[in-house]
Amino acid sequence: MKMKFFVVSSVVVLLSFVFSFSAFAANEEDTASKIALALVSGRAIVAQSQELINDASKGDKGLTPDVFVDKMAADYKTSAGIDLKTIKPDTELHKLLLAFVESSKEVLAEAQEIINKEGMAFKGFIPAVYGKKVGDKFTQKTGLRLKQTSDKYRNAANKPDEFEAKAIAKFMESGYTKGKGYGEFVDMGGKKVYRYVQPLYIGKACLKCHGDPKGEKDIAGREKEGYKEGDVRGGISVIVPVK
Ligand code: HEC
Repeated sequence: MKMKFFVVSSVVVLLSFVFSFSAFAANEEDTASKIALALVSGRAIVAQSQELINDASKGDKGLTPDVFVDKMAADYKTSAGIDLKTIKPDTELHKLLLAFVESSKEVLAEAQEIINKEGMAFKGFIPAVYGKKVGDKFTQKTGLRLKQTSDKYRNAANKPDEFEAKAIAKFMESGYTKGKGYGEFVDMGGKKVYRYVQPLYIGKACLKCHGDPKGEKDIAGREKEGYKEGDVRGGISVIVPVK
């Protein structure tokens, strides 16, 4: 009798542990991937706006923080299925996404002067500059690390750590599903965290600086890597603390 009770209750405890753990895991992954996709969207809008931003014949470009967020929200709705324009701070994820929107607005506000400079062509307001600034602001506001990274990094601030390098290597394996992120629960400095990396790919807009011919200087005066369209350029890394 006693033995039976013990077995049944053990199974119940085990099942509830497995269930709560998997529910939790899904939640951490959802949070991390949705934040990473927001930075993918913001970077994409900066890439798409390069011609406008670098138009020397124009002063006011009309790329205000609000206009930028409108464009970013439209892109993000397609990739993540969430409308950044209408969410309220009613869930942990929504609060984080609103902090992301706020970070983006601040970076765009700070860049207005350079963006609107007449008579100046290349402004240096590129996806990587936006990405670094927004990542840092978001991390400051929320305590969650958000960082762009690449195995072929130009800026040491974007250098991948061991986990990020492993994720990027996985994205490059033949047979890895395109667009799929990679995540794991790991121990970091004695604390359990969920680490996630969302892949970043080379699109047409990236080629003039990161494409062929390899070694030639791009408009920013840096050496092109010789990437082809569709190549893995790196990733967006997110670290979510596990409570
Ligand atoms: C106008 C040139 C230009 C364009 C267009 C451009 N990049 Fe870059 N990219 C750079 C420069 C310059 C850096 C280094 C920035 C720095 O030093 O902080 C960089 C850095 C990066 C980084 C960070 C890793 C590193 O090298 O430090 C990523 C990721 C990246 N680019 C991806 C892309 C993708 C994806 C696109 C297209 C959507 C793109 N870039 C378009 C010039 C460009």
